[in-house]
Amino acid sequence: MVERSVTVTVPAKINLHLGVGPVRADGYHDLATVFHAVDMCDTVTASETTGSAVGVKIEVEGEGAQFVPKDSKNLMAVAAELLARHHGISPNVTVHVHKKIPVAGGMAGGSADAAGALIACDSLWQTHTPKIELDSLATQLGSDVPFALHGGTSMGTSRGEVLTPVISTGEFHWVIAFNEGGLSTPRVYAECDRLRELSHHKVTAPFVPEALLYALRAGDPVTLAHELSNDLQAAAISLKPTVQRVLETGVELGALAGIVSGSGPTCVFLTRDASHALDVAARLSGAGVCRTVRTARGPVPGARVTHSTSN
Ligand code: C5P
Repeated sequence: MVERSVTVTVPAKINLHLGVGPVRADGYHDLATVFHAVDMCDTVTASETTGSAVGVKIEVEGEGAQFVPKDSKNLMAVAAELLARHHGISPNVTVHVHKKIPVAGGMAGGSADAAGALIACDSLWQTHTPKIELDSLATQLGSDVPFALHGGTSMGTSRGEVLTPVISTGEFHWVIAFNEGGLSTPRVYAECDRLRELSHHKVTAPFVPEALLYALRAGDPVTLAHELSNDLQAAAISLKPTVQRVLETGVELGALAGIVSGSGPTCVFLTRDASHALDVAARLSGAGVCRTVRTARGPVPGARVTHSTSN
């Protein structure tokens, strides 16, 4: 019998700028990125089960569920185990996710689910973990997990986990194109390194352009469109050439600009407003160059409890 449950909503992210520096000694790359949370959300529910102990049980439904591991390798299971260990308790929980964020799509869906599991279990177990400790646990889970906790629009440095909020006014409206299949993030970073080596590209310390921060402060999508950039885009296209066609088609059909999201292969298109987004989405859908087309707006908050039941 399910006694109590807590439901958390957690958003996907887009990188408005993704500057990738040299490889570090630990194998990660130094980044200068601007994360932007959009209202394409996964829903994570943690339920305490009475009776025989189950440890951490994972259930997955929705977008791409067939590609998500359901065992202890699932990042939600790792998150629940990590939080339990942090508090010296034995977890006895079912963590269920309803996915809307594409799997291996470059929108940090797995990281979002891990952040969702941390918040849901913390609330279910009433462990009241201080924010600073949640941030530290999130960093251990993955580079994008701290941002999934915070949401909004933030600059990310180091490997992406060091966050500084960015001032942004108004809302931005996006068209999101899901592609067939996913891309492995480590593979895309490795391809980026390979392409740079081939072209003898001198890799310097990454930075976020002032003009991008100005466009966010001004809340101006036309200026922002000129400033979108992603150092992983060439690598994502090299591994999945169809991405190029999607990007070109979205812009031909009227988007202000298109960019690969994170390590791809999802493409995101900036539009002027909500009705422009709907118009571009309908046209892109009709063009048949990608698997699924959605609209989204940002910024939105990070992982938050949206429902809770008690016995
Ligand atoms: O931190 P996370 O586990 O999400 O990163 C997945 C992979 O992406 C890393 O193993 C690494 O190959 C690559 N990565 C990187 N530099 C970063 C972030 C991620 O090389 N700053």
